[in-house]
Amino acid sequence: MKIFTLNKSNLISEISNYIDISDALTLEKFQDGEFLPKFTQSIRGENVFIISQVSTSDQIISTCLTIDAAKRAGANHISLVLPYTPYSRQEKVDHLRSSIGSKMIADIFEKVGISQLLTIDLHSSAITGFYNVPVIHLNGNKIFIKYFQSLELKDICIVSPDQGAIKKNVDFAKAFPGSTFGVINKKRIKPNEIHSMELIGDVKDKNVIIIDDIIDTGGTLKKATDLIMKEGALSVRAVATHGILSGSAIENIESSKLQELVVSDTIEITAKSDKIHVISCATVLSKAINNLSLNKSINEINTIRGGGL
Ligand code: R5P
Repeated sequence: MKIFTLNKSNLISEISNYIDISDALTLEKFQDGEFLPKFTQSIRGENVFIISQVSTSDQIISTCLTIDAAKRAGANHISLVLPYTPYSRQEKVDHLRSSIGSKMIADIFEKVGISQLLTIDLHSSAITGFYNVPVIHLNGNKIFIKYFQSLELKDICIVSPDQGAIKKNVDFAKAFPGSTFGVINKKRIKPNEIHSMELIGDVKDKNVIIIDDIIDTGGTLKKATDLIMKEGALSVRAVATHGILSGSAIENIESSKLQELVVSDTIEITAKSDKIHVISCATVLSKAINNLSLNKSINEINTIRGGGL
């Protein structure tokens, strides 16, 4: 097994505490913006893992070129590790005559030559079906549970920020016996713009935890927090596996009554706020890479056990 990456980030330095990452991959960029990745050592016949923190179009294309280079250099098996898989929010035709971005991304990665994909918290697990190669879909909740248990909060209510996140929230609640549950009925008119929110459930005198897969502009979180606090909650904390934190995200977080936002480093977090706490996904990801390289099950890494809900 050989592991490569084009990223220099907090996540990569954390992962390298657990597994060896080769430096025999370089990326040149031409003046016109084109990329040229190169493996500087032979990888013929190797099982190759390419870890790629991808959120921009340039990163998508350089990842594709790296996979192409690995295939042409004779790698035996190419595992693409995407801590965050872009375009996950497009998993069906949601708007009239619109694209399905996550299907297109799956087609591209497969066409360039991946043998399997390892990723965390796809926006919808149905996206795994867009790939004809194995998709190892890690449960992001595992990254955060221990931290929230260490807070020893009383009267916890887990609140799903929309209908799509209910399963993820129910799974998280398993680790908090005695917690109650709520859900927000969120309606959007267009991407990044929320039309209305309605809370179903009782949050009065509760310490609320909201679990989401993505925080982008922070619009969902700000509105949800304000609504929950108005309904009499004691506090609101939130978890989002992928901290995109674009546009006015920090302003939204800072101006909301949110006590704390806990995100992972699937995307490099550069935005600063005292309310943001980053927990690395390096342990979960390294264990999964290790188990896959040894052809061992990843079930234990992925399952949350407990007596809640
Ligand atoms: C949507 O369904 C996702 O799960 C997130 O709730 C959404 O992407 C967050 O976006 P924003 O932070 O821009 O409201």
